[in-house]
Amino acid sequence: MAMKLYLDTANVAEIRELSWLVDGVTTNPSLVAREKRPFRDVLQEICAIVAGPVSAEVVALDRDGMVREARELAEVAANVVVKIPMTEAGMQAVQLLSREGVHTNVTLVFSANQALLAAKCGATYVSPFVGRIDDAGGDGMALVEEILTVYDPYDFPTEIIVASVRHPGHVLQAALLGAHIATVPYDVLKKLFGHPLTDAGIARFLKDWQQIPQG
Ligand code: E4P
Repeated sequence: MAMKLYLDTANVAEIRELSWLVDGVTTNPSLVAREKRPFRDVLQEICAIVAGPVSAEVVALDRDGMVREARELAEVAANVVVKIPMTEAGMQAVQLLSREGVHTNVTLVFSANQALLAAKCGATYVSPFVGRIDDAGGDGMALVEEILTVYDPYDFPTEIIVASVRHPGHVLQAALLGAHIATVPYDVLKKLFGHPLTDAGIARFLKDWQQIPQG
C-alpha cells in the first residue's frame, strides 16, 4: 500500500480543492485560529468533505479535561481523530480513550521514547514534528527512522504521521523510509505535482504539434 497523504490545514477551500487526492486531514489550534470561525463549525464542515480521518486537537492539559474534550470532539463525526499532546496526563487520557474506542493522534512528538509510550498507551497515530526538529538544527527524518525501527519488532498497530512537513523533500524522505502517512501543508502538496522539465516538455510537444499541416 502506498504512503497515505493527509492535508495539514483547517482551511475548507484548500480541503475541498484537494479532497479527491488526500486520505485525511490534520488540524491544530494554530491552524484553526487562522480561520476565525468557531472550531466545531469548521470541524463539522471538514468531516463532511473528507471521508478519511480528521484530527482535531484538545486544549485542556489535565487528564480529565482532555478526556472530556475528546469525547465531545468524537461526537462531531465518525471520522474525528482526537489529537492529544505528548505529556504524562496526555498518555493517561490516550489509554482511557483507546479503551473506549476513540481514535487518537499523539502530537508534538520529538523523541522515539515518546513514540514508544504513545504506542504502548494505545495511540492510533503518532506525529513526529520533523520540520520543527530541523528548524532547531536537528534531523527530523532520523527520528522517523528511529520510531519505525522501535515499532517494528513489537508489531505496534500505531501509524506514524510525518508532521511539520516543510518541503517536498520531507515527503520523499517519508516515503523512502516507509512511513505510513505524511501530513502536508497545501503549498507543499501543490509543489509535488510540478517539475520544470515537465513544463518544458509540454511546451515543446505543443510547439511541435502546431507544425503539423492541417489535414
Ligand atoms: C501536525 O499534525 C501539525 O498540525 C503540523 O504538522 C505542525 O506543523 P508546523 O511545525 O508547521 O506548525
